[in-house]
Amino acid sequence: MGIKACILNLDGVIVDTVRYHYVAWRRLANELGFDFSETQHETLRGLSRMESMEEVLRWGQVYMTEAEKLHWADVKNNWYLACLLQMQPEEVLPGVLSFLQNLQQTGMLAAVASGSRNAKAVIHTLQLEPYVKLVMDGSTYRKPKPDPDCYLQTASALHLPASACLVFEDMPSGIEAARRGGFPTIGVGLKADLSHANLTISGFEDLTLAGLLEQMEFSLSQSV
Ligand code: G6P
Repeated sequence: MGIKACILNLDGVIVDTVRYHYVAWRRLANELGFDFSETQHETLRGLSRMESMEEVLRWGQVYMTEAEKLHWADVKNNWYLACLLQMQPEEVLPGVLSFLQNLQQTGMLAAVASGSRNAKAVIHTLQLEPYVKLVMDGSTYRKPKPDPDCYLQTASALHLPASACLVFEDMPSGIEAARRGGFPTIGVGLKADLSHANLTISGFEDLTLAGLLEQMEFSLSQSV
C-alpha cells in the first residue's frame, strides 16, 4: 500500500483526557453559577476549545463578549493544565505503546495530529516523545477538523503524500477530515460511529502494523 507513516489523533486514540477536561469545564460552569453532567460533557469530544466554550455557555445560558470568552477559556485551560499534573504514563491507552514501538522497529514514522493546543505537553507527560517524530497541535494549524488542514499540514511536514500516511481517528469529524484530505483511515472505536473509515479497530491491543495492513488490504479487496 506504500504506507510510510502513521498519524494518530491524541484524545481518544492515544489517551483519554476527557475526565481532565470535564473537571476544568465543570469548574468554569460552577464559577459562573451552573452545572452540567458528565454525559452532557461527552458531547464536547472532538470540538475545539472555543467551540466547547460556546457550548458550555449555551448550557448555562450565559452571555459573554468575545474578550470575556477568551479570558475564561484561558482560565479553564490553566485549570486543565493543573489537572494534567496528575496524568501518569500508565494512562496511555492499552496497546498504544507497543504499537508505537512496533512502528519504530519497522522504520515507520509516527506523528500526532490533534486539535488540542496542549498536545505536546500531553505527549511529554506520557513519555512518548521518543516514538513520535512530529506533534501537530491545535496552535499550529488554522482550521479545526473536519477540515483536512491538520492532516495535510502533518503530511507536508513529514514530506509525504496523503496516500502514504495512515490516519487513526476516534471521531467521525476526524475521519471526515482525513478522508477529505485523501488519507487512508483507521477508525478507533465502534464501527457504527466510524463507518466512513477504511477499517475500524476496537483498540490497539495485540496490534502490529503488518497485521493491520493485511486487514486493510482484505477490507479494501472486499469493497471493490
Ligand atoms: C481535542 C479534544 C477536545 C478539546 C480540544 C481542544 O479535540 O478532543 O475535547 O476540546 O482538543 O483542546 P485544548 O487542550 O486545546 O483545550
